[in-house]
Amino acid sequence: MNSQKLFFLILPITIAASALLLQSQSPNTTPLLPIGRPVHIKAPLGLPPVPIPPDNPPTAETIALGRRLYYDPILSLDNTVSCATCHAPQYGFADPKPVSQGVGRRTGTRNSPTVLNAAYFKVQFWDGRAPSLEKQAEGPVENPVEMANTLATVEERLNADPSYREQFANAWGPKPITYEMVEKSIASFERTVISGNSPFDRWKYGHDEQAVDDSVKRGFVVFTSKEKGNCAACHTIQENYALFTDNQFHNVGVGFDMGQFTDVGLYAVTHNEADKGKFKTPSLRNIAQTAPYMSDGSLKNLKDVIDFYIGAGNSNPNLDGEIHVLDFLSGQERADLKAFLNSLTGEVPPNLGPPEEAVKTQAQK
Ligand code: HEC
Ligand code: HEC
Repeated sequence: MNSQKLFFLILPITIAASALLLQSQSPNTTPLLPIGRPVHIKAPLGLPPVPIPPDNPPTAETIALGRRLYYDPILSLDNTVSCATCHAPQYGFADPKPVSQGVGRRTGTRNSPTVLNAAYFKVQFWDGRAPSLEKQAEGPVENPVEMANTLATVEERLNADPSYREQFANAWGPKPITYEMVEKSIASFERTVISGNSPFDRWKYGHDEQAVDDSVKRGFVVFTSKEKGNCAACHTIQENYALFTDNQFHNVGVGFDMGQFTDVGLYAVTHNEADKGKFKTPSLRNIAQTAPYMSDGSLKNLKDVIDFYIGAGNSNPNLDGEIHVLDFLSGQERADLKAFLNSLTGEVPPNLGPPEEAVKTQAQK
């Protein structure tokens, strides 16, 4: 076959194939993008730039809409529970109860983690089962012990509300409201729920020697040195910023009792035996505000957390190699470690509380 013939044979096949490809891709692969004013989220001292997914750049409109949705119980089956019910600003965007109450006061088995700085996690939930903040925002709506609702019902309710229709149109264009718009808006709001510029940051990264006292400085040594607390092995501190998480999963001896795993953690996602009892390393920023602690909410204050680590957690077959008995730490060193943890409470931006619309909707009920 000469090359010209070959060309005429291949050309139609190529065209047909690309047409097919386009047809099968076009409705789903056109990403839904916001139409409003792009916003640059400025990271405070001690934090790196906020990771932004290419298909959901934050805008003034989506952030404002996400904020309204975050505080609106319209997302729950009986209009009683909002995201803020379990992640409340006055409790460091967490819940003071060991396990939260959802619709009908039903309870789950895990402690609500803070939403503060969740934007920096590579995956969401204690067991990492959601790949993004966007996907995470589907979980609570459909969870029978949280909001007990369906995504379709939420779409229906929002489409029936003229003020939401207007706000969604300004953020996403004039089309029917979909849950994808809801989850993307909530995620963009959450990317503004960040906290840095703590006394620790002003000392470590701002080089202000007066920002913390000597106890905090000694506590930093206990926290970071391998021969002492070894905490930074997992609660990572970088050269120019600190997330206090390695974004990995570890078994520190939570979720194990009387020879049994009471919560299998990461195993539920991977079905790998060695992952039983592993949980995502939480950030420790604003930790003083988010008691009780651990994925099961079993430790009521920071003293109990320190005592837990001193005893090397509950011994179990999967205990992490970095966890050791720390009974050699002196009383002073334990107090310094606590002072260090208390120095991690940072500043949160203004405009994170319930917006005016949410307050109005609440008042009407
Ligand atoms: C009834 C209580 C409750 C409600 C309502 C609720 N959450 Fe949560 N949230 C939790 C609990 C409990 C977890 C941890 C669950 C797990 O890891 O299995 C969690 C986890 C999260 C996480 C993951 C954080 C991390 O560190 O991995 C984010 C983000 C989050 N919720 C945001 C939201 C948003 C947004 C809403 C509203 C759409 C919401 N939550 C509604 C209780 C709740
Ligand atoms: C091997 C990794 C690892 C080491 C070392 C480690 N942690 Fe943790 N830390 C974790 C993980 C994982 C969790 C979550 C466990 C759970 O809740 O099931 C956690 C939870 C915590 C919590 C509770 C956070 C919350 O939001 O509930 C605090 C506080 C804490 N660690 C402080 C420390 C201190 C202080 C040290 C050093 C004495 C330390 N950690 C050492 C991995 C580690």
